This record gives sequence, C-alpha cells and structure tokens, in this order.
Amino acid sequence: MKAYHVAIVGATGMVGQEFIKILQQRNFPTASVRFYASDRSAGKKLFFGHQEIEVQETSPDSFHGVDIVFFSAGPETSRYFSPIAAKNGALVIDNSAAWRMEPKVPLVVPEVNPEDIRWHEGIIANPNCSTIQLVVALYPLHKLNPIKRIVVSTYQSVSGTGAAAVEELTTQTKLILEGQSVVPHVYPHQIAFNLLPEIDVFLDNGYTREEWKMVEETRKIMHAEDLAISATCVRVPVFIGHSEAVNVEFANPISPEEARSILARAPGVKVLDDPSVSLYPQPWLAAGTDYVYVGRIRADASSPRGLVMWIVADNLRKGAALNAIQIAEEAIKRDWVKRK
Ligand code: A2P
Repeated sequence: MKAYHVAIVGATGMVGQEFIKILQQRNFPTASVRFYASDRSAGKKLFFGHQEIEVQETSPDSFHGVDIVFFSAGPETSRYFSPIAAKNGALVIDNSAAWRMEPKVPLVVPEVNPEDIRWHEGIIANPNCSTIQLVVALYPLHKLNPIKRIVVSTYQSVSGTGAAAVEELTTQTKLILEGQSVVPHVYPHQIAFNLLPEIDVFLDNGYTREEWKMVEETRKIMHAEDLAISATCVRVPVFIGHSEAVNVEFANPISPEEARSILARAPGVKVLDDPSVSLYPQPWLAAGTDYVYVGRIRADASSPRGLVMWIVADNLRKGAALNAIQIAEEAIKRDWVKRK
C-alpha cells in the first residue's frame, strides 16, 4: 500500500494531540510525519509511536514534499497557510471554520457525502464538531424520509474551545471548591458550575456564529438547501463530549421503533436507548470513542411527523480529528488525494 508524507499544523493543541493518537490507532499509511505549531512550541518534542519528533514553527516552507496536511490551529493560520500547502501539491484537510462555506471547498462527513471529496481543489473542510454528530445521526433517517425541520440545543464541552479552556474549567472548579473567587479569561463568565448560551460571536440576526454554522453547514453537507433548522448552542462544564437535544420533523410519519432500527444499521452510529435501565448516551461514556451515540428516541408529542432524540459524541475525535482522518482515508481509498 502507498504511504503518505503527513504534516499536522497545530500538533500541540487539543485536536492536534488527537490527530497524533488516531493516526497511530488506525495505522494510517504514513511514510513520514511532521509536527507544526506556533513559534511558542518550536523545539518541543512529541512522540509518534517510538519516534520522537521535534515541533517546528509553521512557515510557508513547511509543506515541501508533504502529501496530506491536517490543520487545527485556528482560522487565521488556516487562511494563511492552507493555500500555500495546497499550491505545494498537498491535500489540506482543515478543521477550522476558515473554508467551510467556500463554494469551491467540499465540506465532508464521510458517512454522509464522501463523493464531495472528488471535486476538491487542494483544500477540504472538516465541519464544526456539533454539526458532524448531528448529520451522522440524522442523514440515515433523511435518506429514507426527508427531514423538513430540525430544532437543536447543544451542550458543548470546553475542550472544543481548546487547551486554555480545559485549564480554565480545572482551575475554576478547584478555586470554587476551596471557597475562592474566580476571574474568567477564556469565557465571558465563570464556566465552572455554570452554563453559557454563547459560543463564538453574536450575529445581527440574534444567533451566535456557532449556531449559524450548524444551520449552514448541515444544509451544505446534506445537500439540503431548503432545510429549516434552528440551533441554540450552550457551553457546559464538561471536559470532553458534546451532547444535543434534537427535535426533527419528517416529510412522513416515522415511529421511534423504525428510527431505532434504521440507526442501529447506520455507519458510525450506536443506539443506546433503554430507559428502563437508564441507558442513554452521556459525554463521559462517549469520550475517547469513535461513535455517534443516539438515545432517548421518542415520538414528538408536539408534531405528528416528529421525533425527539439525544445525540452525543467525542468532539475531539468524531467532531474533529477522527472525521478529518476518515476524509483522508476515503480520499486514499478512492484515489482522490491529488486534485482532479
Ligand atoms: P502552540 O501550542 O504553539 O500555541 P488549542 O485549540 O488546543 O488551543 O490548540 C491550538 C493549536 O494551534 C496549538 O497547536 C497552537 O500551537 C497552534 N497555533 C496557534 N497559533 C498558531 C500560529 N500562528 N501558527 C501555527 N500554529 C498555531
């Protein structure tokens, strides 16, 4: 099997660390691996298996001889460096929001729209974490019974914000338990023992950008431009794992039993749904695993064609690094790594 020269930009970050783990766990065909981050991390050493690799500062010269680059270093870094990497002939898979809504950039969840990888021009965008788990769970139902409307509320963990936010929740929790006061740095308010209905900036329409990402990205990935969707995104004091309460209205009636049986066969999905023994998805069960978990599936008492469900996944894995690596694996399998 052919092996690829791989680079990770943002290797020292929360998602970067998952890239390193998952590439090894999945035996990704690497000929070589390079780690890049900011100048702050240059010289730091990280392991890839038994191999110790020095982290380098990202520069325009970083991408010579690289076949596949995974970016997770924020939108500014991606906006600047991804086109340079693509120009050097690499396939960029970018985890930031920089390119997701660009018409010439495919936005891909391999369980939903793998064919979109084919038309990449050097950059493929990895969707927002909350959007990925939503479409993995809903697309198998949508294929059989078109979805007309989605109302979703998210409960998103702090690791989605990055390493500094994980540190902030840890520190604040300790301080509060010791009876001390806290000063927020990463979030506008205390996150320990609290909830914040503000993720990313507020837009003129009253939604936050995170909420609007869910609207636009879901439509783009599912090729459903007219899908009605409304989201409320909430940051919660959980370290890893995003959860979502979702109301879905279909074109035709669908029973919870039908939905459960479709989802039991769906790729990447695990149904955990037995209220009699308190079995339902939870973030701490999902953390460190690859599935999108669905439970609490029930008829929506407010709509004859509606279902309600609870969807949970590891936001760093399926919501970020794993999905990006699956895109690369799919591109390799279909011989679409090089642009057509
Ligand atoms: P560094 O560790 O050197 O700051 P997280 O989301 O967990 O905070 O991680 C962000 C990642 O993006 C880190 O690896 C960070 O590197 C990297 N990063 C931040 N700014 C830049 C930049 N200007 N160029 C390259 N990498 C960057």
